[in-house]
Amino acid sequence: MSHDPVRGMYDILPDEMPWWHLAEAAMREMARRYNYREIRVPLLEPTELFTRGVGEATDIVTKEMYTFQDRGGRSLTLRPEGTASVARAYLTHGWQTQAPFQKLYYIGPMFRYEKPQKGRNRQFHQYGIEVLGALDPAVDAEVIAFAWSLMEMLGLAGLRLRLNSIGCAQDRAAYRDLLRTHFAASIGRMCADCQRRLDENPLRILDCKEASCRPFIETAPGSADHLCADCAAHFSDVCAWLDRLALDYDVDARLVRGLDYYTRTVFELVSADLGAQDTLIGGGRYDGLVEMLGGPPTPGIGFAGGFERLVLVLQERSPDAVQPERLDLFLATLGLEARRAGMALATALRGLGASVDVDHRARGLRKQLTQANDLRARHLLVLGDDEVRAGRGRLKDMDDGSEREVALDPETLAELVFPPWDDPCGGRDEGGDAEGRSP
Ligand code: HAM
Repeated sequence: MSHDPVRGMYDILPDEMPWWHLAEAAMREMARRYNYREIRVPLLEPTELFTRGVGEATDIVTKEMYTFQDRGGRSLTLRPEGTASVARAYLTHGWQTQAPFQKLYYIGPMFRYEKPQKGRNRQFHQYGIEVLGALDPAVDAEVIAFAWSLMEMLGLAGLRLRLNSIGCAQDRAAYRDLLRTHFAASIGRMCADCQRRLDENPLRILDCKEASCRPFIETAPGSADHLCADCAAHFSDVCAWLDRLALDYDVDARLVRGLDYYTRTVFELVSADLGAQDTLIGGGRYDGLVEMLGGPPTPGIGFAGGFERLVLVLQERSPDAVQPERLDLFLATLGLEARRAGMALATALRGLGASVDVDHRARGLRKQLTQANDLRARHLLVLGDDEVRAGRGRLKDMDDGSEREVALDPETLAELVFPPWDDPCGGRDEGGDAEGRSP
C-alpha cells in the first residue's frame, strides 16, 4: 500500500503549525476588530449549489469539482469555495427576513481538482469574509480595508490591489458581446480553451495565462469603461471611499475573476513573492447570488484568501516571525517510583496551566536530558528515589543553568515554571493569580 496522500493534498506538519496559527489568529483578531462573526458550513453540499451559484461554464464547475453520489443516490460535492455555502446558509436560516444584514467570516478547507503546483493544491484552506444585505459602496471599501488591514497586521507590505468593476448582469451581457467582437478576428490564433470560451463565456478569455493569447487580451476593451450609469456611479463611489481611507489600488480594466456570481466590484491582492500563483486574496460583489439560489434580491460582497500562499509569503518575508514552541518543564525520572510520582506531578501541573512532559520510554538520564533540550524546555527537574522520598528536588533553569531547591508541590512549582497565561475557561480564578497572572 502506498503511503502517499492523495495527489495535491498535503499533511501540514507540527513544525509548520506555528505559521498557520499565526495567520489564523490574525484573521480572527481582524474579524473581531471589524465585527464579523464566524460561520462554519459543511464540507459537503448538494452539487447543484455550485453549478448554480459558481456557474455552469466556470473552470471550477466544468473540471475542478470533487463530485460523487452518496449512498442515497444524491449528487454531492466537496465545497470548492465558501461563498455559495454562506449564501445558502443565509436562506437556510431565514436571515433574508429575520436578520438581513450579516457580516460573517470563515476558515476551513476547500477542494478543487486543479493541477498541483507551488501555492496551488487540491485540498487547500481559505480564510474569507462575506457581507450580505448591503449595497452601499462603503461596504465594498470596508471589505477591501479588512483585507489590507489583515495583510498589514501580518507585516506584508508592498502588495498590490487590483480593482475593477464588471457591472450588472446587463452590463456583462453587453461586455461579452464587445469581447466576442474583439476576439473574433484573432480567435484562430488563440488556445483551444479560449476558442471554447468565446462562445460559452468570453470573460473567461481574459484570465488565460497562455503567452500566445496575451497580446490579444491586452488590447481587449476594459469592462469599467462600459458600465451603465448606476454601476459607473457605484464604482466611482468605491474608488472615492478607498481614497478617503488612503487605501492603494490599481484599476485593472481587464480583471474579471473566475466565478460567475460576480457583479460590479471585483478585486485581487497580489504578491510579487509568489510566482505564477500570485493572488493572495480574491473577492468581489455578488448581488445576484442569493436570488440565483431562490432567495429575494440580496446584495453581497466578500473575499477569500488561501492560507497555503499566505504561509509561503510569511515564511519567505519574515522567517523570524514565529518562534519554536517551548515547554515549561521537563520531568526526568529514574526508576518506577519516580515515574509514578512524576506522572502525578505532571498531571497536577498541567491542571494548573503549565506545559509539562515526561519520559514514557524508561530511558536513561542522558537521553532524557537530550529530549528536554530538543523540546526547548525552560526548566528541568530530575526525580529519583531520593527526591520522591524527601518530597524535594532541584529545579534547573535551562536558559541560565542556575538551580534551586524546591518542594515537589504542584502549586509551588507552577509559580516557578510558567509565565502568566490566559485561562480560556477562567479556571485559575481562585488561588492561582496572587502574582497578578491573568485571566
Ligand atoms: P478564488 O479566487 O477562487 O475566490 O479563491 C480565493 C483565494 O483562494 C485565491 O486567491 C487563492 O489565494 C486561494 N486559492 C484558490 N484556489 C486555490 C488552490 N487550488 N490552492 C491554493 N489556494 C487556492 C473564491 O474562492 C471566492 N469564494 C472569493 C470570494 C468570497 N468572493 C466573494 N466572497
